[in-house]
Amino acid sequence: MNEQPASAASQVLQSVRWAGNALDLLDQRLLPERIVYLKLRTPQDVWEAIRELKVRGAPAIGIAAAYGVVLGIQGFEGDSEAAAAEAVRHAEYLATSRPTAVNLFWALDRMKATARRLAGSGVAGAAIYDSLLEEAQRIQAEDEETNRLIGENALTLFQDGMGVLTHCNAGGLATSKYGTALAPFYLALERGIHLKVYADETRPVLQGARLTAFELHQAGVDVTLITDNMAGHVMSKGWVQAVIVGTDRVAANGDVANKIGTYSVAVLAKAHNIPFYVACPMSTIDLSTPTGADIPIEERHPDEVTQGFGRRTAPEGVAVYNPAFDVTPHELVTAIITEKGIVRAPYDTGLRQLFEQ
Ligand code: MRU
Repeated sequence: MNEQPASAASQVLQSVRWAGNALDLLDQRLLPERIVYLKLRTPQDVWEAIRELKVRGAPAIGIAAAYGVVLGIQGFEGDSEAAAAEAVRHAEYLATSRPTAVNLFWALDRMKATARRLAGSGVAGAAIYDSLLEEAQRIQAEDEETNRLIGENALTLFQDGMGVLTHCNAGGLATSKYGTALAPFYLALERGIHLKVYADETRPVLQGARLTAFELHQAGVDVTLITDNMAGHVMSKGWVQAVIVGTDRVAANGDVANKIGTYSVAVLAKAHNIPFYVACPMSTIDLSTPTGADIPIEERHPDEVTQGFGRRTAPEGVAVYNPAFDVTPHELVTAIITEKGIVRAPYDTGLRQLFEQ
């Protein structure tokens, strides 16, 4: 464990860092109070870190899981067939950590494909380790480049002086850098374009307060934190000209799963005639999931709702429903912004065409 003073974070922290033979992972549960990097050495460590939200955000969990596969075959002694089978076994285990974000399965599929390509090729098991490490590092590096392009595309939709509301954390902390929904804010800052960001607190785990407000504030972006139930009020005042959020999975028809509460924000945006944008890499679009109703929605422990603030805020034994995500139907989505371009309705054809490009 490596702890830095919270005041030392003058720029957005890297959530996942490969450290030679281990994975250094920023423990996002402790932010913003403490900046602690954990050293993960096994696929089990990575599985737990994903499940317990030490690392979270669709692209970041995919990257962490990819390194988890690498850790699983570190020091493995055996031929390429055996090493590849071992890597696939670890990938399948890591895929059970969380169900909703498709980037997790996408990254693990890439790792499995890399392992299978080399199986039976006669190379030593150690060569498979090197190739898997390279693939994990490629996934991480590509994510940074992708997010910058998403930011460029998103920025074409915003003008100087606009108020923009966001929900949850789709920032640098949720990715390798820049984020998806937060990428245009970083690019705007670099270019002297002023955007006023409203960050929803995002109950129950407070990714908006603990992470989005933290990273944007550290970077010098003009960010104002509001509780989730203030979004309608802020919109009614005329302070918000656009909403932008990330997503964990986009279905083939354009329905979008994202952090619980996103759907309510989309309904509010519609009621106030405010465009509702979704920003994501192509790896978040899952054409094999026909509609939002087919997206598995994770349910989490009731304690997140009843004692999420470190003290009990609800009666012992009360029934709790705690879905981590909701689905925003495509009718409420103004546009989906990817690294390849901006898609508008009809999404079924638009998304398919994006893949064919
Ligand atoms: O439960 P979390 O914190 O992993 O949920 C994260 C979100 O819902 C993000 O908005 C989404 O993963 C997009 S991150 C670029």
